[in-house]
Amino acid sequence: MRVAGIVPAAGRGERLGHLVPKALVNVGALPLVVHAVAALLRAGADPVVVAAPPEAVDEVRRRAPRAVVVPGGAHRWQSVRLALDAVPADVDAVLVHDAARPFTPDDVIARVIAALAAGAPAAIPAIPLADTVKRVDGYGAVVETIDRTTLRAIQTPQGFRRDVLANAHDTADAETLDVTDDAALVEAMGLDVLTVEGDPRGFKVTTPWDLAVAEMLWERGMG
Ligand code: CTP
Ligand code: MG
Repeated sequence: MRVAGIVPAAGRGERLGHLVPKALVNVGALPLVVHAVAALLRAGADPVVVAAPPEAVDEVRRRAPRAVVVPGGAHRWQSVRLALDAVPADVDAVLVHDAARPFTPDDVIARVIAALAAGAPAAIPAIPLADTVKRVDGYGAVVETIDRTTLRAIQTPQGFRRDVLANAHDTADAETLDVTDDAALVEAMGLDVLTVEGDPRGFKVTTPWDLAVAEMLWERGMG
């Protein structure tokens, strides 16, 4: 099974609030996107295609010389699609991995690949929720408490048989494409999406708090 990596990295990082795009923000002197690419390369993904902010394509090529870098789109799904278009025809499966997740452990990626190799059309890392979850109304009043035991927080890489992801992109309507992750497109097609065990270190750097946590983990040798 030939596996390629797809790294959507074209977001602005508005919640992080830096001047440069989030994928180029450093953790431990390396940009976030470089950490994410390195994890996929270690897992044997070939090639790893990065969808970069269009104005930063050259910079991403310079920082991640082993990646294939293409310009991304205005929406995450467009970035994934543009990267998928650059994946060679003989690739059997793709791993879609956020540039914003620098510390995903190798064994998480290995579990996603193993599930695909065993025949799953799609496989995604999941972790149980630590906090109680409640649904609230527009005024903040609690409507109900949700049974946490059957809920999972979903991480990346999200793995797909290549034809499955391509078909999902082709058949989904614009609204579905915009509001969901890649796996939800496959769910909408009625195909099985398998969860494998994720890891807290696979967290996404979204806010300044997350970046501070990432820096601390790196300094402690835990990244
Ligand atoms: N992404 C992308 N193309 C877009 C939007 C997002 O490739 N048009 C990527 C981001 O670069 C990131 C991943 O999708 O690696 C997850 O998105 P998110 O964490 O939301 O990143 P941003 O969209 O950059 O952040 P924000 O929503 O705070 O602006
Ligand atoms: Mg975003």
